[in-house]
Amino acid sequence: MSVSKPLPHDAAALHVSGAARYVDDIPTPRGTLHLAFGTSPVAAGTLNSMDLSAVLETPGVIAVLTASDLQHDADCSPSNHDEPLLATDTVHYVGQPLFLVVATSHHVARNAVRRAQFDITAQDPILTIEQALAANSRFEDGPRVYGRGDVAGALNSACKTVKGSINLGGQEHFYLEGQAALALPGEDGDLLIHSSTQHPTEIQHKVAHATGQPMHSVRVETRRMGGGFGGKESQGNALAIACAIAALHTGHPCKMRYDRDDDMTITGKRHDFRIDYTCGFDADGTIHALDVVHYTRCGWAQDLSLPVADRAMLHADNAYFLPNVRIESHRLKTNMQSATAFRGFGGPQGMLGMERIVDHVSHSLGLDPLIVRQKNFYPSGGDISGEKKTTPYGQRVEDCIARELVNELTASCAYQTRRAAVTEWNAKNAIIKRGLALTPVKFGISFTLTHLNQAGALVHVYQDGSVHLNHGGTEMGQGLFQKVAQVAASRFGLPLDAIKITATDTAKVPNTSATAASSGSDLNGMAVKIACDTLCARIAQHVSDLHGCEASAVRFENGHVCLPQHSYSFAQAAQLAYQARISLSATGFYKTPDIQWDRIKGQGRPFFYFAYGAAVTEVAVDTLTGENRILRTDILHDAGASLNPALDIGQIEGGYVQGAGWLTTEELVWDDAGRLRTHAPSTYKIPACSDRPGIFNVALWDGENPADTIYKSKAVGEPPFMLGMSAFFALSDAVAACGTQYPDLQAPATAEQVFSAIKRARG
Ligand code: MTE
Ligand code: MOS
Repeated sequence: MSVSKPLPHDAAALHVSGAARYVDDIPTPRGTLHLAFGTSPVAAGTLNSMDLSAVLETPGVIAVLTASDLQHDADCSPSNHDEPLLATDTVHYVGQPLFLVVATSHHVARNAVRRAQFDITAQDPILTIEQALAANSRFEDGPRVYGRGDVAGALNSACKTVKGSINLGGQEHFYLEGQAALALPGEDGDLLIHSSTQHPTEIQHKVAHATGQPMHSVRVETRRMGGGFGGKESQGNALAIACAIAALHTGHPCKMRYDRDDDMTITGKRHDFRIDYTCGFDADGTIHALDVVHYTRCGWAQDLSLPVADRAMLHADNAYFLPNVRIESHRLKTNMQSATAFRGFGGPQGMLGMERIVDHVSHSLGLDPLIVRQKNFYPSGGDISGEKKTTPYGQRVEDCIARELVNELTASCAYQTRRAAVTEWNAKNAIIKRGLALTPVKFGISFTLTHLNQAGALVHVYQDGSVHLNHGGTEMGQGLFQKVAQVAASRFGLPLDAIKITATDTAKVPNTSATAASSGSDLNGMAVKIACDTLCARIAQHVSDLHGCEASAVRFENGHVCLPQHSYSFAQAAQLAYQARISLSATGFYKTPDIQWDRIKGQGRPFFYFAYGAAVTEVAVDTLTGENRILRTDILHDAGASLNPALDIGQIEGGYVQGAGWLTTEELVWDDAGRLRTHAPSTYKIPACSDRPGIFNVALWDGENPADTIYKSKAVGEPPFMLGMSAFFALSDAVAACGTQYPDLQAPATAEQVFSAIKRARG
């Protein structure tokens, strides 16, 4: 069976040889035009007028469009209808698109936009969390609050308390392929859009709206993205809408891709947070009460900020039972790029807050944080006592394996021996300090917007026995297409090369959800299984009728359709069914069972199940400069019964490195005028190959998903990102070894931050 085999990514050879086709590689018809946005140089103000005559006079410029040229309501928002494609009278951030240039080449378009003259009456921008709070600039009327128990009472009666605050920075997605779209006009207003998007249906929906047409006039195709990481859930809307409008306006195919600096300046990033906390606990580290406040910078438009901030609240417990807890969340509106989805979707921020609290509690007790973590884990799934299993939002954690998983990891990485070695090293070495930390992950799987948990598939068997596979999921490097093809091959008993993986296409499977929330293989794998099983049942019925046996006795294996007394090749069986006029095409549809959620009350069962993992990271810090590196990382991660262990381990390695990058070197800096100063790799440092851990041991937890998922696998896309937290807390541990005070390390822990934390630790 193809499922569970560690096969390489279906396009691995194409990726590394440069033959994989991305939007910008699609051969375009003669006459294709290229677009660029002219963007705002100020963060807040009134747009009085634009002088675009020099832009229009630039040789090669075909058209210049402003908001007043748009015939329909061109809105790009995935949620709140608050993102006009081009600014009307108000300017909200540096980088906001103000006008659109259509030209004969990408470079002509980009150079022409610089010749615009703006008359803007600037205002003081709202940039920081403090400024937003002072101006009461927010989405939703006030903070959202989830929780339970008597927090004030439990804090009063707790034997010890700690109070603190942590700032955690945002993160640029830095997908290798930037945002891109290509619109090909057809007859009668029809449009074919190629878009680098995680959400083709959303592109179709927004383009239809912006061009005043029904969705049936717009077809969106996505073969692959060169990375999305959440940054292509909604941020591709503007490009696709611009291309569609320009294509209808000029009658020519239109293409737009953001140059890297433009991409970083225009599009939203991970939400940065400030998290304030007060925690009450016992001398043994048992947590009794927690009061935590999330301040979230959302940027200028709502985008996906409400569900992101909700998910941060839903992960404010991470893997720990909190008897009395209050989680307050402020969604602040600021004059910056509109922060958006990014791997973990708020979960990482919520969990980092909790792990920071555990770190602080442990320091105040002089305990190894591992002890405090183990003290407070949710009980194991097998524990039937029933107590201490309920999350702050009322969902019972029935599948917890945190204790077992952490025990196995601490044994395999020799945690205790290495803890002793680190202590000894630090006693002997004044300059280079070492640190060690284990952090767990418990991540809820499902979209919290319950209706999004659905998927469709379309499977054709051709008369030669080859199979055309299509579903609503998109491929962004995570290996979804290969995993789902493995499911189809397994259902039909065919080798993988009999299955043709095809581009996501809104004309084949309609009304899809974004490939997000890590649920791509859970949802689309099931939808494809259902479609394949429909086809198998039809073929089995026919061949069993021919041989007078039960259809249930028919097996699909080794490329054959096997009956008790006879066997056909799959191709022969397909040919027989075709000649008997049996349909060899089927759709499949799946919706996740057993979930419901009230986001206003903060109560329900938002998640079908949880994914678990833990990482141990060891670091070295140069106390003279704050420079640091990861010496070794050991990970044990739960992917259930893995559909493809090679791809899953790839997701875990990549997720960890991306998570560690978020918390160490990746720093976004805006100046006082609201200009992003880190808009290129020269100033924004993502991890390079040389930054990965010197020793990197990654293993999969051996166990099935107790929930009824596709082949008992678990979602793996986002959860490993949060394993990167262990790098941050290993740094905190190393810094703490420099003195007696709590280092109060802030994120990202750049060399400068580590250096100031060392000074704090020394007091
Ligand atoms: N892996 C690669 N290589 N590239 C990506 O863009 N995106 C991540 C994760 N892993 C991403 C990735 C995010 S944000 C999500 S939600 C999941 O993949 C989406 O895919 P899945 O649902 O199929 O896991
Ligand atoms: Mo992932 S942030 O859910 O696209």
